[in-house]
Amino acid sequence: MDYVRLGRTELKASVMGLGCGGHSRLGQATGKTEAESAAIVRQALDLGINFIDTAEAYGTEPIVGRALQNVPRHSYILSTKKSLRQDDRWVTGAELKAGLERSLKQLQTDHVDIYHLHGLQPDQYDYACSEWVPALEDLKKQGKIRFSGVTEMFGRDPQHVMLERAVQDPFWDVIMVGFNLLNQSARQRVFPYTKANDIGVLIMFAVRRALNSRENLAEMLQHLYAERLLDPQQHSLEDVEAAFGPASGAESMQDAAYRFCRYEDGVHVTLSGTGNPEHLAVNHRSLLRPPLPEATTAKLKSLFGHIDSISGN
Ligand SMILES: NC(=O)c1ccc[n+]([C@@H]2O[C@H](COP(=O)([O-])OP(=O)(O)OC[C@H]3O[C@@H](n4cnc5c(N)ncnc54)[C@H](OP(=O)(O)O)[C@@H]3O)[C@@H](O)[C@H]2O)c1
Repeated sequence: MDYVRLGRTELKASVMGLGCGGHSRLGQATGKTEAESAAIVRQALDLGINFIDTAEAYGTEPIVGRALQNVPRHSYILSTKKSLRQDDRWVTGAELKAGLERSLKQLQTDHVDIYHLHGLQPDQYDYACSEWVPALEDLKKQGKIRFSGVTEMFGRDPQHVMLERAVQDPFWDVIMVGFNLLNQSARQRVFPYTKANDIGVLIMFAVRRALNSRENLAEMLQHLYAERLLDPQQHSLEDVEAAFGPASGAESMQDAAYRFCRYEDGVHVTLSGTGNPEHLAVNHRSLLRPPLPEATTAKLKSLFGHIDSISGN
């Protein structure tokens, strides 16, 4: 495994992080048993992955907690998140703190390394500053969280409107941002500021749904043609697939997708979410391969670099 300094947190994080949410939720979304999901967490540790990302909303905190029992606490970085809505209203600072206490119990630990506001939307940002940031500051002082983070709701905010504000703010130690082949807009809107302010950067949506199968890619291309974001005459499914094909230096579409993210300037940890042990092993190999050949990266930038209105969900 390769490790990287996670911005000013000074944490040494593996370049690959295990995502315990997304469409898979460690396989819980597709009928895996808790034992099978816990085995994914342990397989990740065996592969040298020390970054584990979960959330109150995923239902995987208890599985992660059980899987990490008897693993020395200093040997992994635990990242979890607080849902921001409850009963059709935004939670209070006190509810955020109570949520952290529940997460600590589920995770069987006395602190989390990074505690995020989960899926913060642009219209919540002012409320976050007045209500949630002071609560996070208290939790930091109490030693219950080491660093504060914020994640965007990429599906609804694919242009990073919320993060464009957050990255200018001194409070956030770490952010989680959607970035992939199909929407590279964080390159201009987010990374210049995270680099300048030494903020840790976690990538979600590297593969997600649009890049996890040929059928889903084909469906996404239909959408891009309808929106006039790609020209079907020039960019048929076969043309697009050639960008990840045998001549591209990539082993597969997913291999290209993860390597493209890992080597983007400004990216620290690329999350991979799976409940499938073979996918975990294959994605681990991808993330440790060298960068894609320059011509392949250039082709992927020219194909999709102008798109900022989709997430790949
Ligand atoms: N707003 C937020 O805070 C937010 C939102 C989304 C995600 N996240 C975090 O980011 C993490 C990463 O996002 P993600 O889970 O969407 O991850 P991802 O790695 O981009 O995509 C995972 C999806 O692709 C499939 N997959 C993985 N490897 C594959 C392979 N080699 N071949 C074919 N399919 C493959 C997975 O299904 P299988 O189980 O079949 O492998 C899963 O459906 C999440 O787990 C979560 O921790 C945060």
